[in-house]
Amino acid sequence: MSLVTLRGPSGRRAAEAATVARRVHPVGRRVYIETYGCQMNVGDTELIAGLLAERGYLRVEDVSKADVILVNTCAIREHAERRVLGRLGQLQAFRRKRPEVLLGVTGCMAQRLGERLLGRAAVDIVAGPDAYRRLGELVEEMQRGALERGQALLELDATESYEEIHPIRGEGVTAWVTVQRGCDHRCSFCIVPYVRGPEKNRRPGKILSEARRAAEAGYTEVTLLGQTVNSYRWEEWDFADLLCRVARTPGLRRVRFTSPHPNDVTRRLLEVLEEEPAVCRQLHLPVQSGADRILKRMVRRYTVDEFRGKVEMAREVVPGIALSTDVIVGFPGETEVEFEATLALLREVRFDDAYLYRFSPREGTPATRFPSEDFLPDEVSRARLERLIEVQREIQREVNEAEVGRTREVAVEREARSEGDMLGRTETNKVVAFPGERELAGEYVAVRLLSTSGATFVGERVA
Ligand code: F3S
Repeated sequence: MSLVTLRGPSGRRAAEAATVARRVHPVGRRVYIETYGCQMNVGDTELIAGLLAERGYLRVEDVSKADVILVNTCAIREHAERRVLGRLGQLQAFRRKRPEVLLGVTGCMAQRLGERLLGRAAVDIVAGPDAYRRLGELVEEMQRGALERGQALLELDATESYEEIHPIRGEGVTAWVTVQRGCDHRCSFCIVPYVRGPEKNRRPGKILSEARRAAEAGYTEVTLLGQTVNSYRWEEWDFADLLCRVARTPGLRRVRFTSPHPNDVTRRLLEVLEEEPAVCRQLHLPVQSGADRILKRMVRRYTVDEFRGKVEMAREVVPGIALSTDVIVGFPGETEVEFEATLALLREVRFDDAYLYRFSPREGTPATRFPSEDFLPDEVSRARLERLIEVQREIQREVNEAEVGRTREVAVEREARSEGDMLGRTETNKVVAFPGERELAGEYVAVRLLSTSGATFVGERVA
C-alpha cells in the first residue's frame, strides 16, 4: 500500500494547522464519525471505530468535542454525494474555529472521487473501504505533524476482510456482522464493484465467533451484511448453512440479513427462514424493474417470470413472510409501457415495503454508455417516480391495515419522537410506537397494533 501525498493549496494550511495541533491539543484522541449510505457502511463505521480504538481513539457523539472528524460516505447516487459535499462544507466552517481538528472522508464516495476530493472538499484524509487498517497510523502521524495533511489511501485489496478487528458497536438491539465485502454481480447501473472491489467472503468460523461475541455483549439480534449476502460461499458452506448456524448462537433471538440477490434465493435458504426460530420471516428481494428488456439492460440476470417464481417460492415455503424490494425508474431506454409493467408488478406482488429511486448515472458504470437519446428527461423520470411512490404507498397501507388488531412481539429499540412512547420492530420489520418507559429498550414485549399511518404502527403493550 502506498500513501499518495498531494502538495498544493492545502499544504501550507496543513503545516500551520499541525503546529497549532501540537501546541493546543497535543494528542487529542476523540473521533466523531458520521455515516451515510447502506448498512454496510454502518458496519464499516463500527469497524473504523474499532481500528482507531486500538490506538486509543475514543468515539464521541458530539462533533464539537472531536479532534478527528470522519465522514463515512456512499456513492450509489449523485444525490447521496451532494449531501455529503454540503455536509463537508458545514464541517469546514466548524473547523475554521478549530483548525487543529482533522477532517477525513472514508467509504465509497472517498474511493470513487479519490484525490479529487482532497482538492474539491479541502479535506485532510481520503480513505477507501479497503484501506481502513492504515487509517489509525495516518491520523496519528498527521496529528503529530509528522505527515502533511492531504493524504489518500485508495488501494483496493482483494484479500482484505478485516479479520481479527473487533468493531465498536453502537447502542441498540442489533449487531451488524459483515460476512462479505465487495460484489461480483456487476449490474450495469451499480458503482459498488468499482469502489468496493470483487466479492470477498469471510471464514464461517470467524463469523460465528463474532456473532457469539455480540450475543455475549448483550445484543439479541444480529444482521448479517453483504452486498449480495446470499451469494456467500466458503468451501462447503453456502449462505443457508451460515444463516442456520448463526441463528443457533446462544442468546440471539433474531437474525436478519441484507441485501440478497434474487438469483441466490434458494428453497433451502427459505427453509432455514421457516425452520429456524431465530431467523426473521422477512426477505428483501430487489426487483429493480418489471420489464424484461430493462432487466437485461441492467444485467440483473433474471426475467420477470423468474423473479415471480422466487416470490411464489418464498410465500409457499414461508407463509406470512414479509417481502420488500428496490426499484429504479427511468433507467436508460425505459418506455412508458415498460414503466407500466413495473407498476403492474408492484400491484401484483404487493410488497410490504419498497425503496424506490430514480436512475442516477454513475461515472464509469456500463449504464452511462447507452446512446444519449436513451437517457430520459428529468421531468419524465421524476413523474414516474411519483406515480410509483403513490401506488406503493397505497399497497403498503392496505398490507399494514390487515395487520391492525394483531399482537406482535416487538424488540424495543429506543425512545420515539412522541413523548412517553418507545419505538420497536416486529419480526417482519414493521416499526411500532407504543407507550412505554425508557427502561424497556432492549426488551421484547407483546404489542397490539392499534392503527397504522401506512408505513408505521401505533400500538399498546399487552400482558
Ligand atoms: Fe452506498 Fe457503498 Fe453502500 S455506494 S449503498 S455505501 S456499498
